[in-house]
Amino acid sequence: MKPFVYVANWKMNLSFTQEVAFAKQNQADLIELGKKPDTTIVLCPSYCSLAPLSELFKNSSIALGAQDCSAYKPGAHTGQIHAQTLAELGCTFCIVGHSEKRTQCHETNEQIAQKVAHLIVHNITPIICIGETIKDHRAGKTVAILEEQLAPIVAAFIHAETIPPLCFAYEPIWAIGTGVIPTPEVLKTTYAWLRAHLQQKLGHASQNTRLMYGGSVDEQTSAKITMLADIDGLLIGSASLDFQKFKKIVELQR
Ligand code: 13P
Repeated sequence: MKPFVYVANWKMNLSFTQEVAFAKQNQADLIELGKKPDTTIVLCPSYCSLAPLSELFKNSSIALGAQDCSAYKPGAHTGQIHAQTLAELGCTFCIVGHSEKRTQCHETNEQIAQKVAHLIVHNITPIICIGETIKDHRAGKTVAILEEQLAPIVAAFIHAETIPPLCFAYEPIWAIGTGVIPTPEVLKTTYAWLRAHLQQKLGHASQNTRLMYGGSVDEQTSAKITMLADIDGLLIGSASLDFQKFKKIVELQR
């Protein structure tokens, strides 16, 4: 059985001091929670906190992830962070293509595919976020948008015999931070399409892909979401900043 993955995306909610304090305060409980069988917990703090958190969780099963990485090779790219640095800091996962980065930093699907390529070289599992706006959702364009977002990534692996582990996180933009979650029908249809699409494009190599969900996951909604959808993990935003809520989500599962 593939471990079920819980990704805590802290976004830019806390300062460096606050992130380290939160990690220290919950260090023992997080390590204990990480011992749950068939479970992977990934903490994604801001870049600056990766080094101290790596120290706090070394020799534990808590994994570290970054919230983004550069699409470029090392060189003159002021303000950017390369995948190699993330690997040196202990990251084994990295979120890319989050809708907040797509919208606020105008990222393209091609740039996201380049980030994926750099991460793979450094043995970091990309968590590739995809999802549609409420306008596109209402217009029935979900599948078309997801297909477009996936295209350059899928193209990079299309003839591969084997592929590295890849996580695809469906995060409908209209579900992020809104308290609204997709209906069971929407989840069923979307995940069925995603699995079939990856299988069609990548063949048996698609077995190395995981499907995750993100958007208003909390201790009230998580069981409902995972019971209904064929998913292997959750991306948790605001609820991951309340340790008791995060713990309940992990404990409730399967
Ligand atoms: P919320 O859980 O706060 O809705 O955020 C979801 C998200 O964007 C995770 O990446």
